[in-house]
Amino acid sequence: MSAKVRIELDPLGIVLEAEKGTTLESLLAEYGVEFPCGASGICGGCRVQVLEGAVEPQEADLLTLTGDELAAGYRLACRIHAESPLKLRVEQWSMPILTDDTAAVRSTNRGLAVAIDLGTTTIVAQLLDLYTGEVLSLKTALNPQAAYGADVMSRVRVSLNGPELTTLIRSFLEEMIAGLAGARAAEIVEVVAVGNTVMHHIFSGIDCGPLAHVPFHSEHLGEQRFTAQQLGWNLAPAAVVRFLPCLGGFVGSDILAGILATGLHVEPKLRALVDLGTNGEIALGNSERILCASTAAGTAFEAGAIRMGMRAAAGAISHVHWLGDRMQCGVIGDIEPRGMCGSGLIDAVAAGLDMGAISSAGRMTNAEREIVLQMPVKLFQPDVRELQLAKGAIAAGLRILLAHWGAELEDIECLYLAGAFGNYVRPESAFRIGLLEVPADRLVASGNTALRGAKLSIGVEHFPVLNMIEHVPLAEDPQFEDRFIECMAFPAGFNAAAARADSTL
Ligand code: FES
Repeated sequence: MSAKVRIELDPLGIVLEAEKGTTLESLLAEYGVEFPCGASGICGGCRVQVLEGAVEPQEADLLTLTGDELAAGYRLACRIHAESPLKLRVEQWSMPILTDDTAAVRSTNRGLAVAIDLGTTTIVAQLLDLYTGEVLSLKTALNPQAAYGADVMSRVRVSLNGPELTTLIRSFLEEMIAGLAGARAAEIVEVVAVGNTVMHHIFSGIDCGPLAHVPFHSEHLGEQRFTAQQLGWNLAPAAVVRFLPCLGGFVGSDILAGILATGLHVEPKLRALVDLGTNGEIALGNSERILCASTAAGTAFEAGAIRMGMRAAAGAISHVHWLGDRMQCGVIGDIEPRGMCGSGLIDAVAAGLDMGAISSAGRMTNAEREIVLQMPVKLFQPDVRELQLAKGAIAAGLRILLAHWGAELEDIECLYLAGAFGNYVRPESAFRIGLLEVPADRLVASGNTALRGAKLSIGVEHFPVLNMIEHVPLAEDPQFEDRFIECMAFPAGFNAAAARADSTL
């Protein structure tokens, strides 16, 4: 029988029993770790820090990592073989998590409450004083379900085999709350959680079967309510735990919370809220009615499926500017670049359009079919195509909602960008590539609207706004396919090279 080696992966706390001698690349890839240079040992994008155990540096480590990094125990995961027990910190899993500092609405009641933004990738929880509305403590974490797959559909598949993910997330949140409240846990009277439809169903123990196939319609989108006793949580037995209602299909309570946080429903002027991710969610409306929809955008906004794509971690090009004669790149951590994250990709394509290196049809105009951003990081032709698919889906979704509303793009007075990605993307670039077809001065990065909306919902029993919201299933709309194809093109610019490239198509 072959020997096994124990490998522990932080910060997700995943423990693997690997066959002795197995490469870490094959093991980590199953958990969504990316290998931007195809595990060639040249980009440094797969860095891990050895916390326990020993790994001798290989030649690629010595060439790619600095002396300080080597001394701190950093190694390239694509060069490690499982020879002895190891505890590793995966750098790709260390990402900034967007929180929110605003207070909750003050109540005349005494006691504590908890607001939770339960995301597919990250979780943010805050402890609040009901009487003052003040945020008392904050905890952030990676969603432990990430060990079962990065996107919602992989979670749906796992959940169909049993309650493992439900048990996991309930006990994880119980621990987070215990860490937030410490000795004051018994004073908590209410916990309010928001998240997408899959997170809502898994936490609540609802069958995800209907979310696994067309038309992705679940009958159980309403608010789910438990007592701490029912969940077996170590809080006051009568403390209420609520998961707010979803809006339809894959539009979850995070968007309901976003609507509450931005006040989309309180003013007569037409406004939109967009959460960009693998599952793009859009709401459009005013004080009369609100339409919402979701659209599958793939992984381009997270720089997945991008040749030199990586998460927004140290070494990622996050911003690119075309200065008229050269590129200027901003790199997270001010170190040598190793890849580009989603915001860098959008900037890079916008810069490519401005310099005439990319045509409005998305064709690179030079013979190499690549653009150097900052060596060794390059943008390649297939990367542009991936982004076209993603931005086409979002832009088409917004156009369809506008058509249902009976309004035009010019009628949108303000478009709120929710979530972490929306916070980092440059509005000018989002407009330049036609991802958001609303002028940059009307795009507003709105931070973690899901968490803010969860805080505003503490103690609120009814949401009259739900009666104003209509879900539009884009997949069933006969116009969607045509709008999607139209929206894949980039807005035309004035550049002779780009025009020639398009004329040869
Ligand atoms: S994937 Fe390991 S160095 Fe590039």
